[in-house]
Amino acid sequence: MVRNLFDRRVLLVTGKGGSGKTTIATALAMAARDRGLKVLLVQLGKNDYVGPIFGRNIPVYKETELEPGLFGLIVEPYLALHEYLVGAMKIRMVVDWFLENRVIQYLTQAAPGWRELITVGKIWQLEQQTVGYQKRPRFDLLVVDAPATGHGISFLRVPQIILNTLKFGPVRQQTMAVQKLLMDPDRTLLIGVTLPEDLAVNEVEEIHHAAKHVLQIPYGATVINGFIAPLADAATTPIVRELLRDEKAMSALGRAVPHGVAALLEAMRLHEIRAELSADYRAQVAERIGGTIMTTPYLAEMNEDRESIIKVAKVLDEQVPRGRR
Ligand SMILES: Nc1ncnc2c1ncn2[C@@H]1O[C@H](COP(=O)(O)OP(=O)(O)OP(=O)(O)O)[C@@H](O)[C@H]1O
Ligand SMILES: [Mg+2]
Repeated sequence: MVRNLFDRRVLLVTGKGGSGKTTIATALAMAARDRGLKVLLVQLGKNDYVGPIFGRNIPVYKETELEPGLFGLIVEPYLALHEYLVGAMKIRMVVDWFLENRVIQYLTQAAPGWRELITVGKIWQLEQQTVGYQKRPRFDLLVVDAPATGHGISFLRVPQIILNTLKFGPVRQQTMAVQKLLMDPDRTLLIGVTLPEDLAVNEVEEIHHAAKHVLQIPYGATVINGFIAPLADAATTPIVRELLRDEKAMSALGRAVPHGVAALLEAMRLHEIRAELSADYRAQVAERIGGTIMTTPYLAEMNEDRESIIKVAKVLDEQVPRGRR
């Protein structure tokens, strides 16, 4: 059975560079918000690609309300480390002095994995935050726009590496809680984004494989973005094909659009080829990955604007089952 993705706490959206991770993460966040959830859309790194969609900038590490019920946050490792140390040491000035220290700067640059650990630790901390007496979660859902694959997978593997290395102590304790969140299918799902193209499909298959066999993070769904559907449905397509072979019909069409008919037919033919390719890649995803597959259409007029994202959100919403699992 296909489960309601929005019933979890954390959706990690990843995929090949340029496959539409930011678009899909933002659209999923909007769709979940439209179902009444309070959603935090987390971007990892320094750059803000989400803010401009809503006509604004999200300052680094400042939680920003983009629309009612939809918040944005950029998690940058160095600032996350700062926050973590202030929490641990209580005195901001000491932390500032500590982090500005050249030796520490050198050490943090040399130590592999701390960025990833602190990033994923921050996601865990956001998931844990509660409000009020009843300790309700501060956000119903976190949607994480994860980095492109290679890097995306390494960032999720770091808690495991830490657990294999550190056998005791507070860092191990906290990392165990982080890893528990990542591995819990009731709370976390990885969403793989691909395009109907060879390289992107290969990459999402690798992500799926890594999720299952290396990371042990539950894999929720594959989104085939930029999907091209046939112009006509299955019942109408043979009729259209027959019409194209019907000389009388074609000469009538020729009279209606004297100069455009050849171009029109060519455009239809090209569209059909691309639609067949999309269907073919969908079948490949079904065979090589299986599970839940969602498709979002190629939008010719896509301009990284709110209206386009709303269209994508609508299409996704129709494919995510409602109700509890
Ligand atoms: N369904 C679509 N139809 C048309 N264009 C799209 C679609 N989805 C995304 N795009 C465009 O493709 C480009 C890449 O999309 P997006 O930024 O979401 O990908 P990404 O995977 O986050 O990229 P990066 O790896 O650089 O972070 C953008 O210009 C976006 O507007
Ligand atoms: Mg992106």
